[in-house]
Amino acid sequence: MEKRFLEKNDNSNAASSEVGTILPEKFTKKQFVKNIKAGLNISSIFLLIKKQIKRKKSGENYWIITLQDKSGSIDGFIWSDVCNELSILRENNLNEGDFVLINAEASEYNGLIQLKINYIEKVRKEDEKYISIRDFIRTSAFDTNLMLSQLKNYIKKVENKYLKRLLEVFFKDDEFVKEFCLSSAAVQYHHAYIGGLLEHTLSTTKLCDFIAENYKYMNSIKKGFTNINDFKDLVLTGAILHDMGKIHEYKSEKNGAFFKITDEGKLLGHITIGYGMVLTEINLIKRFPAQLKDRLLHIILSHHGHKEYGSPKRPKTLEAFIVYHADHLDADIGGFNFILENKAENIDWSEYLKNFDRSIFLKELSFDFSEDYREADAEGKIKINNASDDENNFPKLFK
Ligand SMILES: [Fe+2]
Ligand SMILES: [Fe+2]
Repeated sequence: MEKRFLEKNDNSNAASSEVGTILPEKFTKKQFVKNIKAGLNISSIFLLIKKQIKRKKSGENYWIITLQDKSGSIDGFIWSDVCNELSILRENNLNEGDFVLINAEASEYNGLIQLKINYIEKVRKEDEKYISIRDFIRTSAFDTNLMLSQLKNYIKKVENKYLKRLLEVFFKDDEFVKEFCLSSAAVQYHHAYIGGLLEHTLSTTKLCDFIAENYKYMNSIKKGFTNINDFKDLVLTGAILHDMGKIHEYKSEKNGAFFKITDEGKLLGHITIGYGMVLTEINLIKRFPAQLKDRLLHIILSHHGHKEYGSPKRPKTLEAFIVYHADHLDADIGGFNFILENKAENIDWSEYLKNFDRSIFLKELSFDFSEDYREADAEGKIKINNASDDENNFPKLFK
């Protein structure tokens, strides 16, 4: 078992502390999650974002912890023999949001890389100043200003004066906009990073815009709305506001490297918080129509689709049905992306995933279609543009 971590780095720590501007080597990030492969020994600093204490049938405790840096997250197992040796675990003073130094061995299990942790040490609060926080901050891959201006363009498209006013109350408030843009859409899993809420909201709104446009001339909608654009306005407004309660459900720590659920989030959840935020503003808008209020609030309350997923109501209007499906689709695609980004190399199937209630196929499509076409062209035997003229001319791929 490797336990020389501290001793090995003690000199560099002391030397660089005198210099002041040089980060002590001990706290320098040396290995990133995305580069961890089975068989590697890992000796580096990570952010602990989740801990679970489990009990074996034999009665012994072991820990499963989730470690994160800007490149991703990984689970680590601290088996009972290590737990017994390390006082830090006995005393249970490792917490979510702590930086930790670890020594571990990486292995692959059921399609995912995991760590067997042999040593773990909490970084003291007074030493956190030596850590380069940028190595741990995860942000959306998309430009914040661009996403925000795209979202504001959807607000401009809303014609209903009450809904437009309501949206402007929020999106002309600089303080709200700042919080909204910095917020994550989750603690873990889909869109769990700075800008994640904005990215997820924009993506859901784009999907809703397309779906509403596609169906807005259906007879039932024409009959159901005096002004047909009210239908689309409700869908867009619901999409833009559906998760806004997350700005109070999650709280960022360590400059946004870590998101935790607030007490308010645990007690109320973002659906109830968002409902309260929207209702408060609606009540301040003169003569906001009661029917419009109920239908908009229904979108927010029902957007998780099922009571067991936190929605007090199931979607009972077409606009709520659309927002629920678009939200679900975007979250699932974000979840798929998370699994694909964190999968081990050369693994065909994921483990059973609770969120999907299945394993998912991870194997890359490695056949080079374009190469096949080019080769066929060069041989002069296959007419790509007129393949149906002669059965023999079909690309061999489709035979
Ligand atoms: Fe939600
Ligand atoms: Fe959502």
